[in-house]
Amino acid sequence: MKTIILNEFGPASNLQFADLPIPQISTDEVLVKVNAISINPVDIATRNGKGPAVGITERPVILGWDVSGEVTESKSSRFKKGDEIFGMVNFPGHGKAYAEYVVAPVDHITLKPANIGHDEAAAACMAAITAWQNLTEHFQVKKNQKILIHGGSGGVGHYAIQIAKHLGAYVITTSSEKNKKFVLSLGADEHIDYKAVNFEDVISDIDFVLNTQSSDIAERSLSVIKQGGTIINIASLTTDAIKEKSELKGITVLRTSVKSNGKNMQQLAELLENNKIKSHISEIFALEDMQNAHSSLETGMTVGKIIIKP
Ligand SMILES: NC(=O)c1ccc[n+]([C@@H]2O[C@H](COP(=O)([O-])OP(=O)(O)OC[C@H]3O[C@@H](n4cnc5c(N)ncnc54)[C@H](OP(=O)(O)O)[C@@H]3O)[C@@H](O)[C@H]2O)c1
Repeated sequence: MKTIILNEFGPASNLQFADLPIPQISTDEVLVKVNAISINPVDIATRNGKGPAVGITERPVILGWDVSGEVTESKSSRFKKGDEIFGMVNFPGHGKAYAEYVVAPVDHITLKPANIGHDEAAAACMAAITAWQNLTEHFQVKKNQKILIHGGSGGVGHYAIQIAKHLGAYVITTSSEKNKKFVLSLGADEHIDYKAVNFEDVISDIDFVLNTQSSDIAERSLSVIKQGGTIINIASLTTDAIKEKSELKGITVLRTSVKSNGKNMQQLAELLENNKIKSHISEIFALEDMQNAHSSLETGMTVGKIIIKP
């Protein structure tokens, strides 16, 4: 089968095409013929030997976690041959999704809604589940709460806006001016162009901040949150300065990490099926063109998601 492998961590040029045997499945796993894969910033970090790379000892490394495709073999009563499924498999382990066939634990996947294609389904894995876990589990967004989502035009941000609106929140989001129309079309109530305006000069009384950006943005966000509010960082650590300032103001600051979860995939499938959330795909690459797909994602300017077709 076609795969993209890494023999050594490093730049995008280390991503190499390889023809490998189709993997074997064990109990409670299915074999999936992949129709679409999506890529995430953590793929780049892992390619560079960071994050999940530390726990992956097997070689070669096959990156990727987000897949949508058809079950060709099953060792579980939950899914049968021919089922169309999607999910984030084995995160934060060795996902091995950059391939024509992927082994998926049945606890990490769910049936793909019939009203969306595999591209939209593959997009709605890691980015969507991250938004879901942070807005409904680590913090529970409630109706009429005022929330700030940094980076609303990115993979996580564009699902977070839609999920927060579905939960009844008032949503303020940041992006550059070129993505204003896009984030407003997702339902955001207010947009702030982070390149032209300091968000702390124009908003206040925020209940919850989802920070998809650096720790300095988290620190600046402390001045717009209500006493007793919460900030979640998904891309940066909680610095000593943030700890000190947040304690003084009675603000909870969390750093969270997404985990594979089939139940959450089922909850996202329901939202996709009922048109409560929609995947936005900005670019599609062939599996063989993975180096260019990584280069594009590495610009940090992706709108919605990048999809790969094996
Ligand atoms: N901890 C976890 O569980 C977890 C899970 C998923 C992702 N993450 C991390 O979360 C981060 C976001 O992931 P992602 O998939 O959403 O990334 P992404 O899709 O690559 O994000 C790109 C978006 O970020 C926006 N952006 C860049 N700089 C910005 C700034 N200063 N302020 C506001 N927006 C800005 C860009 O908008 P403009 O082009 O308009 O600037 C672009 O649309 C990554 O670092 C990723 O590794 C963590």
